Amino acid sequence: MDSTNTTSAFTKNPLRIALIGYGKMGKAIEEIAVNRGHSIGLKIDINSLNDFTKENLQQCDVAIEFTSPHTAVQNILTCIEAGIPIVCGSTGWLARWEEVKQACEAFKGSLVYASNYSVGVNVFFEVNQLLARLMNPHTEYEVNMLEIHHTEKKDAPSGTAITLAEQILENLGRKKEWVNQHNATPEELSIISERIDPAPGTHKIKYSSNIDDIEIIHTAHNRQGFATGAVLAAEFIKTKKGVFSMKDVLGF
Ligand SMILES: NC(=O)c1ccc[n+]([C@@H]2O[C@H](COP(=O)([O-])OP(=O)(O)OC[C@H]3O[C@@H](n4cnc5c(N)ncnc54)[C@H](O)[C@@H]3O)[C@@H](O)[C@H]2O)c1
Repeated sequence: MDSTNTTSAFTKNPLRIALIGYGKMGKAIEEIAVNRGHSIGLKIDINSLNDFTKENLQQCDVAIEFTSPHTAVQNILTCIEAGIPIVCGSTGWLARWEEVKQACEAFKGSLVYASNYSVGVNVFFEVNQLLARLMNPHTEYEVNMLEIHHTEKKDAPSGTAITLAEQILENLGRKKEWVNQHNATPEELSIISERIDPAPGTHKIKYSSNIDDIEIIHTAHNRQGFATGAVLAAEFIKTKKGVFSMKDVLGF
């Protein structure tokens, strides 16, 4: 059976997984992981922080962390220092990326970070880069982004929207920075964030000219895509050292 198959059981190398964060994502990951033949060795949430010890972590093969922007960095550092590979899905903490990367290198640790673990979104990232490259010479097109999530989401714009925006900035010379509002100058890339229930996540990028529009849209139907990708990342990282992205996990 192909180990990258996203739907059927993965039983060749069962993992004992530590779930750091047992909210909406932690529970969705548990279901997918168990269906793929893995077991959950540790579950940590805000009410069981006393169990979040080096000794308990070291009983597991890999940790999957989905908590919040404010708790993610300390959780990653705890896992790295305990010598356990970690898959982090919490968003909104990338201002501390360099610190985390350096700690991972110093401890010879293993980290996968993705602003979005869904296989579909990672294909969408590739399409976004290609479209921005193709649009680069065609200055008559203005571009903007809309992202819609549920009202409990704490960060805006979403981590996925930031990744998409950075890809556009890298490939479309006429945009210099993103703003989380309507753009005031042509150099700004507008990201509008809407919070509506229920909405697991929609990202729309629209290029408009007087002649025509081109839109690309990714709409998540539920959390299963994120959870499946996070489990694939855990299977990938168990035997690796270093800092990785979903691009590495999916072999793009
Ligand atoms: N990368 C992705 O693909 C992806 C997809 C969905 C959500 N997310 C992100 O994942 C995070 C969690 O999302 P969610 O929907 O599961 O949120 P949630 O609020 O449902 O769950 C968060 C969980 O974290 C726990 N928690 C809080 N502080 C903690 C700490 N210090 N240590 C351990 N656990 C702690 C809470 O008790 C809760 O169980 C958010 O940052 C969200 O933006 C990322």
